[in-house]
Amino acid sequence: MKKMNWNTLVSGLALFTLLATLLSACAPAPASPAAQPASPATPAASAAVETQPTASGAETPAESPSADPLRFPVDSFTVQTETVTTTTGIKQVSYRLYQHIPYVAKPVDADYQSLDVKVPIEVDGKAVDASRAPILFANHVGGYMASSNAGGGMPALTGLPPGGVMTGTLPGGMGGAPPAGGMPGMPGGESGISRNTDLALAAGYVVVEPGARGRNNQAQDGTYYGKAPAAIVDLKAAVRYIHYNKGVIPGNTDWIISTGVSAGGALSALLGASGGSHLYDEYFKQIGAAEAEDTIFASADFCPITDLEHADMAYEWIFGTVPLKDGTLVDQAISQQLQQAFADYQAALKLNGVNGFGALTADNYGQYLVQTYLAPAANRYLQALPEAERTAYLAQNAWITWDGSQASFSFNDFIRHVGRTKGLPAFDAFDLSAGENSLFGNETTNARHFTKFSLRQASGDANAEIDSDLGEKVNLMNPMYFINQGCSGCAKYWWLRTGTSDADTSLTVISNLAASLENQGKQVNAVLYWDAGHGADQDAEEFIAWIGQITGYTP
Ligand code: DHB
Repeated sequence: MKKMNWNTLVSGLALFTLLATLLSACAPAPASPAAQPASPATPAASAAVETQPTASGAETPAESPSADPLRFPVDSFTVQTETVTTTTGIKQVSYRLYQHIPYVAKPVDADYQSLDVKVPIEVDGKAVDASRAPILFANHVGGYMASSNAGGGMPALTGLPPGGVMTGTLPGGMGGAPPAGGMPGMPGGESGISRNTDLALAAGYVVVEPGARGRNNQAQDGTYYGKAPAAIVDLKAAVRYIHYNKGVIPGNTDWIISTGVSAGGALSALLGASGGSHLYDEYFKQIGAAEAEDTIFASADFCPITDLEHADMAYEWIFGTVPLKDGTLVDQAISQQLQQAFADYQAALKLNGVNGFGALTADNYGQYLVQTYLAPAANRYLQALPEAERTAYLAQNAWITWDGSQASFSFNDFIRHVGRTKGLPAFDAFDLSAGENSLFGNETTNARHFTKFSLRQASGDANAEIDSDLGEKVNLMNPMYFINQGCSGCAKYWWLRTGTSDADTSLTVISNLAASLENQGKQVNAVLYWDAGHGADQDAEEFIAWIGQITGYTP
């Protein structure tokens, strides 16, 4: 019962999240969060994947036991084939699949602390040598929930359904706007293009898909073992495993490109920002992480739900006066306090906007978003529409002025167009019902307040302080913390994407991430997709091409 058959169960993040919650509630979890033996690998068989008999060269680990549990089992693979849809046609890809490999020596739960590796060997009948190829490190975390690596490989589908129907609210209060633009990791989206990991294989890159513990992991005795910072500790340990196996694991370990969506996008950003930090050392020791570096080359982050301790302020700054779907406004007095806190926070960041905008403040941020991201996104969208459709769109959206080639609009009209989806506060909920409250639980408490503001409001105690362990844990989950410290171990290259209609967090979150990285001299490619919702990935092929550009790699 502990194993999931992803191929039949997974059809979207909502279902995935629900199942994960149900499983954590009813499946026999490990008796205690202590070392578990790795489950034996089972062959993958997703709809688009054919499993062939074990390849020549495959052997069981039992026949050649390695003294080092962290040595990559280079001879244990199966050969798979799959079809990848690109704009230049359909490609047949054969690849070696290494499945369910524990990446730490003392796993708390190997179902999560394991990874899959895919190494392309043939594309359209032509041999591919991926031994020096970039490594796409794709986490599939959603909702800060545990991401399983058991049960025959990673879920074939990540995130939300193509075209974006996610109804209702995810357990733990993580609802989401319907994604209009398809999904990273989804076949299709609106373009019919394959997902990033498949496109990467077709481009001749190595793909690593790690599992990770999450906020819903609970042992039989009730102990939680995946609360913050477990997920980032695990993903960093998986990166260490790759570096540790340099020269053994296929691919160029100097070219690790991390990617993730939403909570996974936040963790991907955190991987990109926290390279080389010693603040996680004690956690690495506990799980037997490889003694190796954990820096990465590039970080690709789709709609990252991050900067969590400032996310409530940012949400009120952007949506505070916008009605919820039922037409009601949140408590304006409380919203005002958070809006003021955002202004203070933004001033303290001392960021300059990209493209020479100058100092970013709460007062000029709306204009900054319009000119830097929103109007360009609207222009791309409108310019690409056939004339009749553009005319119809503009008729329905009279708040946009179109001069024949360029859109102009006010920030306030734009935000009303998007609409508010989350309550007040959006992340540190007064009743502890938000997923983020549960992320910051501890071994014995499922959900806690992680901001002074919400704790004091909820408790009525104007002097209350958050639990003493939380200050550091909040930092360990926030890429902005590491970037503001000087970004010494930061990835050099960043790919940031979100939809303009993603109301799961404030647009200032991704925009501040972009500006702070750019201010620290990093190369940032940040683009918003017009009218697209949570999880959109509308230029997946450009992303794969970008990896080729930043690495200079050609297969
Ligand atoms: C996710 C969505 C949210 O709205 C949130 O608060 C945290 C995570 C997600 O989709 O991963």
